[in-house]
Amino acid sequence: MSLSDAVGPDAPNPYELLSWYAEMGVTEALDETPRNHFADPVPAGGNGQPRLRPLPGRPAAPVRPMAAAATAPDDATVSAKALAREARTLDELRAALAGFEGCALKATAKNLVFADGNPEGRVMMVGEAPGADEDRIGLPFVGRSGQLLDRMLAAIGLNRKDDVYIANMLPWRPPGNRTPTPQEVAICLPFIQRQIELADPDILVCVGGPSAQGLLGFTGILRSRGKWVEYDTGTRRIRAIATLHPAYLLRRPLDKRLAWRDLRALKAALDGKN
Ligand code: URA
Repeated sequence: MSLSDAVGPDAPNPYELLSWYAEMGVTEALDETPRNHFADPVPAGGNGQPRLRPLPGRPAAPVRPMAAAATAPDDATVSAKALAREARTLDELRAALAGFEGCALKATAKNLVFADGNPEGRVMMVGEAPGADEDRIGLPFVGRSGQLLDRMLAAIGLNRKDDVYIANMLPWRPPGNRTPTPQEVAICLPFIQRQIELADPDILVCVGGPSAQGLLGFTGILRSRGKWVEYDTGTRRIRAIATLHPAYLLRRPLDKRLAWRDLRALKAALDGKN
């Protein structure tokens, strides 16, 4: 449907339409006429922003560029590192993330999903990224996979209120739950690394492949899960293990036996038995 079809009495509310596009993962608007993206760019204005050509017959509307899009990815990573390093507490880190404009995911997410559980807990679990429920509520792992995660923890006598601190590699939901881009992961990495350093758990559990890859350098979660490695938080070395993501276990219940082995290994480590 073109925009000209969308102006009748039954036309959708443009804000709802835009939210729907964002939800579906649309990240670019296309013109009705083809555009040569390889042509010389429009010369920049004095403020360094591209000069916007007014549409025929209309004055150019002032445009506030989306801050996330205005920050080049390399600059965003550099500023993420600096902001993360400057944060001296988890509260400061949350505030730094809330003010950070370098990751485009923030523009489409409803909420910052920073953490849940007990930051004093001996275990820190890190998943991939918030889903729709987490985005709506602003807490990690509260949807179906979060409920399974809670049951898995309960099976070894742990609960998130007292024993476990939970966060994600990315604190904003990727639209439509799409896989985060490597660039988005790289931009958010300094924040989760600093979050681990500040929470200072005894044991890090990477929940699912993307977290295991981003934090431990593992490839192939089915091959690498259940293996203990050392993770350097920046201030000390702690034990780390990767396990299967509960969303995967909901699709492949037979593999719960593998996750059960990882949980038993976690419990034994907490009890000083391995
Ligand atoms: N999956 C994740 O990896 N994290 C969440 O918070 C929810 C689902």
